[in-house]
Amino acid sequence: MITSSLAEQLRNAQHVVVFTGAGVSVESGIPTFRDALTGLWERFDPAQLATSDAFRADPSLCWGWYEWRRNKVLQAQPNGAHLAIAELARYVPKLTVVTQNVDDLHERAGSRDVSHLHGSLHSPRCIDCRLAYTLPLTSEALPEGGSRIEPPRCSACDGYVRPGVVWFGEMLPEDAWSAGIAAAAECDVFLSIGTSGIVYPAAELPLRALGRGATVVHINPARFDISGQEHFLEGPASVMMQSLLREAFGDHPVS
Ligand code: OAD
Repeated sequence: MITSSLAEQLRNAQHVVVFTGAGVSVESGIPTFRDALTGLWERFDPAQLATSDAFRADPSLCWGWYEWRRNKVLQAQPNGAHLAIAELARYVPKLTVVTQNVDDLHERAGSRDVSHLHGSLHSPRCIDCRLAYTLPLTSEALPEGGSRIEPPRCSACDGYVRPGVVWFGEMLPEDAWSAGIAAAAECDVFLSIGTSGIVYPAAELPLRALGRGATVVHINPARFDISGQEHFLEGPASVMMQSLLREAFGDHPVS
Protein backbone atom coordinates (compact mmCIF):
# COMPACT_ATOMS: atom_id res chain seq x y z
CA MET A 1 0.00 0.00 0.00
CA ILE A 2 1.23 3.49 -0.84
CA THR A 3 1.07 5.37 2.44
CA SER A 4 0.97 9.15 2.54
CA SER A 5 4.31 9.11 4.32
CA LEU A 6 5.90 7.12 1.49
CA ALA A 7 4.43 9.49 -1.11
CA GLU A 8 5.81 12.41 0.89
CA GLN A 9 9.29 10.86 1.07
CA LEU A 10 9.29 10.51 -2.71
CA ARG A 11 7.98 14.06 -3.15
CA ASN A 12 10.74 15.46 -0.92
CA ALA A 13 13.56 13.28 -2.25
CA GLN A 14 16.62 15.00 -3.71
CA HIS A 15 18.04 11.90 -5.41
CA VAL A 16 15.99 8.85 -6.38
CA VAL A 17 17.48 5.62 -7.70
CA VAL A 18 15.35 3.31 -9.85
CA PHE A 19 16.88 -0.16 -9.93
CA THR A 20 15.15 -2.56 -12.32
CA GLY A 21 15.12 -6.23 -13.22
CA ALA A 22 13.40 -8.40 -15.81
CA GLY A 23 9.96 -7.83 -14.18
CA VAL A 24 9.84 -4.23 -15.45
CA SER A 25 9.80 -5.50 -19.04
CA VAL A 26 7.22 -8.28 -18.52
CA GLU A 27 4.33 -6.04 -19.56
CA SER A 28 6.20 -5.39 -22.82
CA GLY A 29 6.13 -9.13 -23.52
CA ILE A 30 9.73 -9.94 -22.53
CA PRO A 31 9.88 -13.01 -20.26
CA THR A 32 11.70 -12.97 -16.90
CA PHE A 33 14.45 -15.45 -16.02
CA ARG A 34 13.07 -17.14 -12.92
CA ASP A 35 9.26 -17.08 -12.98
CA ALA A 36 7.84 -20.62 -12.82
CA LEU A 37 6.81 -21.86 -16.30
CA THR A 38 7.38 -18.60 -18.17
CA GLY A 39 10.89 -17.74 -16.89
CA LEU A 40 13.67 -18.16 -19.44
CA TRP A 41 15.80 -20.26 -17.06
CA GLU A 42 12.85 -22.69 -16.61
CA ARG A 43 12.93 -23.44 -20.31
CA PHE A 44 16.58 -22.98 -21.24
CA ASP A 45 19.73 -24.03 -19.42
CA PRO A 46 21.84 -21.00 -18.41
CA ALA A 47 24.92 -23.25 -18.41
CA GLN A 48 24.38 -23.74 -22.16
CA LEU A 49 23.61 -20.13 -22.98
CA ALA A 50 24.98 -17.71 -20.42
CA THR A 51 28.68 -18.50 -20.02
CA SER A 52 31.63 -17.85 -22.29
CA ASP A 53 32.53 -21.57 -22.16
CA ALA A 54 29.06 -22.36 -23.53
CA PHE A 55 29.51 -19.86 -26.33
CA ARG A 56 32.91 -21.29 -27.30
CA ALA A 57 31.52 -24.86 -27.14
CA ASP A 58 28.54 -24.13 -29.39
CA PRO A 59 28.62 -20.57 -30.82
CA SER A 60 25.65 -21.07 -33.18
CA LEU A 61 23.31 -22.39 -30.45
CA CYS A 62 24.15 -19.51 -28.13
CA TRP A 63 24.14 -16.79 -30.82
CA GLY A 64 20.79 -18.02 -32.21
CA TRP A 65 19.21 -17.80 -28.75
CA TYR A 66 20.46 -14.26 -28.14
CA GLU A 67 19.36 -13.20 -31.65
CA TRP A 68 15.88 -14.49 -30.80
CA ARG A 69 15.85 -12.37 -27.64
CA ARG A 70 17.23 -9.30 -29.44
CA ASN A 71 14.54 -9.73 -32.03
CA LYS A 72 11.85 -9.99 -29.34
CA VAL A 73 13.11 -6.75 -27.79
CA LEU A 74 13.17 -4.97 -31.16
CA GLN A 75 9.51 -5.87 -31.62
CA ALA A 76 8.55 -4.82 -28.06
CA GLN A 77 7.48 -1.36 -26.88
CA PRO A 78 8.14 0.33 -23.53
CA ASN A 79 5.24 -0.21 -21.10
CA GLY A 80 3.61 2.01 -18.47
CA ALA A 81 6.35 1.27 -15.94
CA HIS A 82 9.18 2.37 -18.27
CA LEU A 83 7.17 5.50 -19.09
CA ALA A 84 6.43 6.32 -15.44
CA ILE A 85 10.13 5.93 -14.59
CA ALA A 86 11.09 8.33 -17.38
CA GLU A 87 8.34 10.68 -16.20
CA LEU A 88 9.65 10.60 -12.62
CA ALA A 89 12.77 12.44 -13.84
CA ARG A 90 10.56 15.52 -14.36
CA TYR A 91 9.52 15.61 -10.71
CA VAL A 92 12.68 14.90 -8.70
CA PRO A 93 15.92 16.92 -8.71
CA LYS A 94 18.05 13.86 -9.56
CA LEU A 95 17.07 10.44 -10.89
CA THR A 96 19.49 7.61 -11.57
CA VAL A 97 18.29 4.54 -13.46
CA VAL A 98 20.33 1.36 -12.93
CA THR A 99 19.11 -1.76 -14.67
CA GLN A 100 20.02 -5.43 -14.82
CA ASN A 101 18.13 -5.63 -18.11
CA VAL A 102 19.87 -6.04 -21.43
CA ASP A 103 17.03 -4.46 -23.42
CA ASP A 104 16.79 -0.74 -24.31
CA LEU A 105 13.20 -0.14 -23.21
CA HIS A 106 14.14 2.43 -20.55
CA GLU A 107 15.95 4.52 -23.15
CA ARG A 108 13.10 4.16 -25.64
CA ALA A 109 10.69 5.38 -22.93
CA GLY A 110 12.84 8.51 -22.52
CA SER A 111 15.16 7.72 -19.59
CA ARG A 112 18.65 9.18 -19.97
CA ASP A 113 22.05 7.83 -18.85
CA VAL A 114 20.81 4.37 -17.92
CA SER A 115 23.51 2.21 -16.29
CA HIS A 116 23.32 -1.33 -17.68
CA LEU A 117 24.90 -3.59 -15.07
CA HIS A 118 24.55 -6.70 -17.26
CA GLY A 119 25.44 -5.16 -20.61
CA SER A 120 23.19 -4.88 -23.63
CA LEU A 121 21.80 -7.13 -26.36
CA HIS A 122 22.56 -4.27 -28.73
CA SER A 123 26.32 -4.00 -28.20
CA PRO A 124 27.95 -7.20 -29.46
CA ARG A 125 31.71 -7.45 -29.69
CA CYS A 126 34.47 -9.82 -30.75
CA ILE A 127 35.02 -12.58 -28.19
CA ASP A 128 38.78 -12.41 -28.81
CA CYS A 129 39.85 -8.79 -29.45
CA ARG A 130 36.65 -7.13 -28.04
CA LEU A 131 36.16 -4.92 -31.13
CA ALA A 132 32.57 -3.62 -31.24
CA TYR A 133 30.35 -5.01 -34.00
CA THR A 134 27.27 -3.31 -35.51
CA LEU A 135 24.25 -5.55 -35.91
CA PRO A 136 21.43 -4.82 -38.35
CA LEU A 137 18.15 -3.68 -36.73
CA THR A 138 16.23 -6.62 -38.14
CA SER A 139 12.60 -7.02 -37.14
CA GLU A 140 12.09 -10.37 -38.81
CA ALA A 141 10.38 -12.77 -36.35
CA LEU A 142 12.63 -15.66 -35.28
CA PRO A 143 11.36 -19.04 -34.01
CA GLU A 144 10.57 -19.25 -30.28
CA GLY A 145 13.77 -19.97 -28.36
CA GLY A 146 15.84 -19.42 -31.48
CA SER A 147 17.52 -21.76 -33.83
CA ARG A 148 21.20 -22.17 -34.57
CA ILE A 149 22.66 -19.11 -36.27
CA GLU A 150 26.35 -18.86 -37.08
CA PRO A 151 27.67 -15.71 -35.33
CA PRO A 152 29.28 -13.03 -37.52
CA ARG A 153 33.08 -12.80 -37.61
CA CYS A 154 35.18 -9.89 -36.39
CA SER A 155 36.52 -7.73 -39.21
CA ALA A 156 39.86 -7.25 -37.41
CA CYS A 157 40.83 -10.72 -36.14
CA ASP A 158 38.19 -13.08 -37.59
CA GLY A 159 37.11 -14.14 -34.07
CA TYR A 160 33.45 -14.84 -33.37
CA VAL A 161 31.20 -11.92 -32.45
CA ARG A 162 29.53 -12.55 -29.06
CA PRO A 163 26.51 -10.88 -27.41
CA GLY A 164 27.34 -7.75 -25.38
CA VAL A 165 25.75 -9.14 -22.22
CA VAL A 166 27.45 -10.11 -18.96
CA TRP A 167 27.58 -13.86 -18.53
CA PHE A 168 27.89 -15.83 -15.29
CA GLY A 169 31.46 -15.61 -14.01
CA GLU A 170 32.19 -12.31 -15.79
CA MET A 171 32.85 -8.87 -14.28
CA LEU A 172 30.18 -6.17 -14.49
CA PRO A 173 31.04 -3.16 -16.70
CA GLU A 174 33.08 -0.92 -14.43
CA ASP A 175 31.38 2.38 -15.31
CA ALA A 176 27.87 1.02 -14.73
CA TRP A 177 28.81 -0.66 -11.45
CA SER A 178 30.60 2.45 -10.10
CA ALA A 179 27.61 4.59 -11.05
CA GLY A 180 25.27 2.13 -9.27
CA ILE A 181 27.36 2.08 -6.08
CA ALA A 182 27.72 5.87 -5.99
CA ALA A 183 24.00 6.41 -6.54
CA ALA A 184 23.00 3.81 -3.91
CA ALA A 185 25.27 5.53 -1.39
CA GLU A 186 23.91 8.98 -2.08
CA CYS A 187 20.17 8.60 -2.78
CA ASP A 188 17.38 9.21 -0.32
CA VAL A 189 14.81 6.97 -2.06
CA PHE A 190 15.69 3.67 -3.76
CA LEU A 191 12.98 1.95 -5.86
CA SER A 192 13.78 -1.69 -6.64
CA ILE A 193 11.39 -2.80 -9.37
CA GLY A 194 10.76 -6.25 -10.85
CA THR A 195 13.80 -8.11 -9.62
CA SER A 196 14.17 -11.35 -7.66
CA GLY A 197 17.23 -9.74 -6.05
CA ILE A 198 19.28 -12.90 -6.01
CA VAL A 199 21.99 -12.19 -8.58
CA TYR A 200 25.06 -10.61 -7.04
CA PRO A 201 26.73 -8.18 -7.05
CA ALA A 202 23.72 -6.26 -8.50
CA ALA A 203 21.54 -7.38 -5.56
CA GLU A 204 23.87 -5.57 -3.16
CA LEU A 205 22.61 -2.17 -4.31
CA PRO A 206 19.33 -2.04 -2.33
CA LEU A 207 21.19 -3.30 0.75
CA ARG A 208 23.83 -0.60 0.34
CA ALA A 209 21.14 2.07 -0.02
CA LEU A 210 19.34 0.77 3.07
CA GLY A 211 22.63 0.78 5.00
CA ARG A 212 23.09 4.46 4.12
CA GLY A 213 19.64 5.34 5.44
CA ALA A 214 17.67 5.55 2.17
CA THR A 215 13.99 4.63 1.97
CA VAL A 216 13.97 1.34 0.04
CA VAL A 217 10.80 0.31 -1.81
CA HIS A 218 10.33 -3.03 -3.59
CA ILE A 219 7.74 -3.24 -6.38
CA ASN A 220 6.80 -6.77 -7.39
CA PRO A 221 3.59 -8.79 -7.89
CA ALA A 222 5.17 -11.71 -5.98
CA ARG A 223 5.70 -10.98 -2.30
CA PHE A 224 9.05 -11.85 -0.68
CA ASP A 225 10.50 -11.25 2.78
CA ILE A 226 11.92 -7.83 3.54
CA SER A 227 13.23 -6.20 6.68
CA GLY A 228 11.05 -3.98 8.87
CA GLN A 229 12.73 -0.86 7.45
CA GLU A 230 11.83 -1.58 3.80
CA HIS A 231 8.55 -1.05 1.95
CA PHE A 232 6.78 -3.49 -0.38
CA LEU A 233 4.30 -2.45 -3.08
CA GLU A 234 2.67 -5.64 -4.29
CA GLY A 235 1.54 -5.48 -7.91
CA PRO A 236 2.70 -5.12 -11.51
CA ALA A 237 5.33 -2.46 -12.12
CA SER A 238 3.20 -0.30 -14.42
CA VAL A 239 0.25 -0.12 -12.01
CA MET A 240 2.36 0.50 -8.92
CA MET A 241 4.64 3.09 -10.54
CA GLN A 242 1.75 5.06 -11.97
CA SER A 243 -0.06 4.97 -8.58
CA LEU A 244 3.12 6.05 -6.81
CA LEU A 245 3.57 9.03 -9.13
CA ARG A 246 -0.08 9.98 -8.74
CA GLU A 247 0.08 9.79 -4.92
CA ALA A 248 3.32 11.72 -4.73
CA PHE A 249 2.87 14.34 -7.44
CA GLY A 250 -0.86 14.45 -8.17
CA ASP A 251 -2.71 13.71 -11.39
CA HIS A 252 -0.59 13.87 -14.48
CA PRO A 253 -0.70 12.14 -17.83
CA VAL A 254 1.92 9.41 -18.24
CA SER A 255 2.58 9.72 -21.93
P1 OAD B 1 14.24 -12.66 -12.38
O1 OAD B 1 13.61 -13.48 -13.46
O2 OAD B 1 15.13 -13.35 -11.43
O3 OAD B 1 13.09 -11.94 -11.52
C1 OAD B 1 12.06 -11.21 -12.14
C2 OAD B 1 11.17 -10.64 -11.06
O4 OAD B 1 10.16 -9.88 -11.70
C3 OAD B 1 10.47 -11.66 -10.20
O5 OAD B 1 10.65 -11.32 -8.81
C4 OAD B 1 8.99 -11.53 -10.59
O6 OAD B 1 8.09 -11.77 -9.51
C5 OAD B 1 8.95 -10.07 -11.00
N1 OAD B 1 7.83 -9.71 -11.91
C6 OAD B 1 7.12 -10.50 -12.75
N2 OAD B 1 6.18 -9.77 -13.40
C7 OAD B 1 6.31 -8.50 -12.97
C8 OAD B 1 5.63 -7.27 -13.24
N3 OAD B 1 4.62 -7.19 -14.13
N4 OAD B 1 6.04 -6.15 -12.58
C9 OAD B 1 7.06 -6.20 -11.70
N5 OAD B 1 7.72 -7.33 -11.40
C10 OAD B 1 7.36 -8.45 -12.01
O7 OAD B 1 14.96 -11.42 -13.09
P2 OAD B 1 16.11 -10.49 -12.53
O8 OAD B 1 15.93 -10.22 -11.08
O9 OAD B 1 16.20 -9.33 -13.45
O10 OAD B 1 21.47 -11.81 -15.56
O11 OAD B 1 17.37 -11.41 -12.74
C11 OAD B 1 18.64 -10.92 -12.47
C12 OAD B 1 19.61 -11.44 -13.50
O12 OAD B 1 19.52 -12.87 -13.58
C13 OAD B 1 19.34 -10.99 -14.92
O13 OAD B 1 19.85 -9.70 -15.22
C14 OAD B 1 20.07 -12.03 -15.73
C15 OAD B 1 19.64 -13.28 -14.98
O14 OAD B 1 20.50 -14.37 -15.07
C16 OAD B 1 22.28 -11.89 -16.61
O15 OAD B 1 21.87 -12.13 -17.74
C17 OAD B 1 23.72 -11.66 -16.25
